[in-house]
Amino acid sequence: MDKLEITGGIPLEGEVSISGAKNAALPILAATLLADGPVMLGNVPHLNDVTTTVKLLRRMGVEITFHDGTTLEVDARGASRFVAPYELVKTMRASILVLGPLVGRYGYAEVSLPGGCAIGARPVHLHVDGLRAMGADISIDNGYIRARTKRLTGARLVLEISTVTGTENLMMAAVCARGESVIENAAREPEVIDLANFLVAMGAQIEGAGTDTIHVQGTDQLTGAAYDVMPDRIETGTYLVAGAITGGRVTVNKTRPGHLDAVLQKLAEAGAKIDIGPTWVRLDMRGRRPRAVNIKTAPYPAFPTDMQAQFCALNAIADGVSAITETIFENRFQHALEMQRMGASLRIIGNTVICHGVEALAGAPVMATDLRASASLVLAAAAARGTTIIDRIYHIDRGYERIEEKLAQLGAAIKRLTS
Ligand code: EPU
Repeated sequence: MDKLEITGGIPLEGEVSISGAKNAALPILAATLLADGPVMLGNVPHLNDVTTTVKLLRRMGVEITFHDGTTLEVDARGASRFVAPYELVKTMRASILVLGPLVGRYGYAEVSLPGGCAIGARPVHLHVDGLRAMGADISIDNGYIRARTKRLTGARLVLEISTVTGTENLMMAAVCARGESVIENAAREPEVIDLANFLVAMGAQIEGAGTDTIHVQGTDQLTGAAYDVMPDRIETGTYLVAGAITGGRVTVNKTRPGHLDAVLQKLAEAGAKIDIGPTWVRLDMRGRRPRAVNIKTAPYPAFPTDMQAQFCALNAIADGVSAITETIFENRFQHALEMQRMGASLRIIGNTVICHGVEALAGAPVMATDLRASASLVLAAAAARGTTIIDRIYHIDRGYERIEEKLAQLGAAIKRLTS
C-alpha cells in the first residue's frame, strides 16, 4: 500500500492549477448513459473514482475512449447490462448515480446498496423514494436495489433533506420522464448546476438548478454533446489552506472563486490576505500565524463539509481556541484523532471539535481514513516539524489528482513511498 512521506515546516510558495471537479465528473459520467450519441467530455480529472466509474460504465457495454489525459469520448448506445455490482459500489458510493439514468432511460436497474461509510451512515432512501414517486417499481433484496418501469412519470418530489447525489439522481431520471417534475428542497451545490448544464447541452429542459426548486420537463430523447467539467472547488480550498497553514503564498489557477465564498471568508478571518481574479485566487499568509476560526458545516452556499477536516488542521496550529461543528455527517472527525498523534490539542464533544491551537505539530506516523481526512493530514504534515508518514493514501488518490506533484511544485518536501 502506498504511503506519503512529508517533511514539514516549509512555507509553500508558487502557483498550482486546479483539476476538474470529482463530484461533478462522477454524475456527468453517469449522465452519459442518457445520450443517444457520442459525448465528448473535457477537464475530466485523473482520479481513482473516475477510473472506477469508467470501469462500471464499460461493464454495462458503454464504449469509452481516452483522447488525452483529461478528454474522454463516451458512447452509451451499446449499453445493455444495467447492473452496478457490489464489488464496484463498495469501493465508491457515487456508483449509486447510475440508478436514476438507468431507470429513466432503460426502465431497469440493479444497483448494489452502498452500505456503511467511514464518515457516516449515508443512506440512499431519498433516491429510492423519489424514483418510486415517479412510478418506478422498486424492491430491495439481497443487498441490491432493483428498479423497473415502463416509463417514469413526472412528479413533485419534496426532499426531506437536501441531498447532493439524491438531487442529481432524480434530475437525471426526471429528464426521461413523461411530463414535468419539480424537485423541492433540492441541493444547491455548484456540482448540481454543472450536471444540469451538461444535461441541457444534451437537449434536456431544466430550470432552477442552483436554487432549491428545480423544474424538469421530460423529453423523449437526449443527444450527444461536448462539455467541460467545472473546476474542483474542494481541491482549490485545500491548496489555499496549504498556503495558509505553512505561512506561505499560493496562487491557485483555473478555478472559480465564486464557488468558494464561505471558505475564502474563513481564510480571511484566519488572517490571510486574499486576492481574486476571474479564474484564480491568491492567498498570502507570509510572516503570520493563522488565527483560530469557528466553523459550522452546512449545505451550499454555507461552509462545505468537504473542507471541514482541512480547517481542523489549520485550527490545530492557529492562535486561539476554536469550535468546528459538523452538521452533515455524523462521524467525520477521524482526522482529529490522528492529528492528536501529531501533538494537536483537540477534543471531540458530540458533533463539535474544540481545538486549542498549539505553536507547532510534530511529525508522526498517521493513517488516512477517508478522502478529506487524508487531505487534512497532508496539510498538518506540511506544517509540522519533522517527518510524517501517512499510510493508506489510496483514499487521497480517489479525489486529488497528482497531489504530491502539485505540492512539490509549491516547494513541499513530499514523496510517495510505493510498496
Ligand atoms: N441523506 C439521507 N438519505 C438519503 C440521502 C442523504 O439521510 O437518501 C443524508 C446523508 O446521510 C447526509 C445528508 O443527507 O447526512 C447529506 O448527504 P448527501 O446526500 O448530500 O451526500 P452525498 O450526495 O452522498 C455528496 C458528495 C460528498 C459530500 C456531500 C455533502 C458526491 C459524489 N459526494 O455526497 O463528497 O460530502 O455531497 O456535500 O458528490 C467527498 O468528496 O469527499 C464527499 C464525501
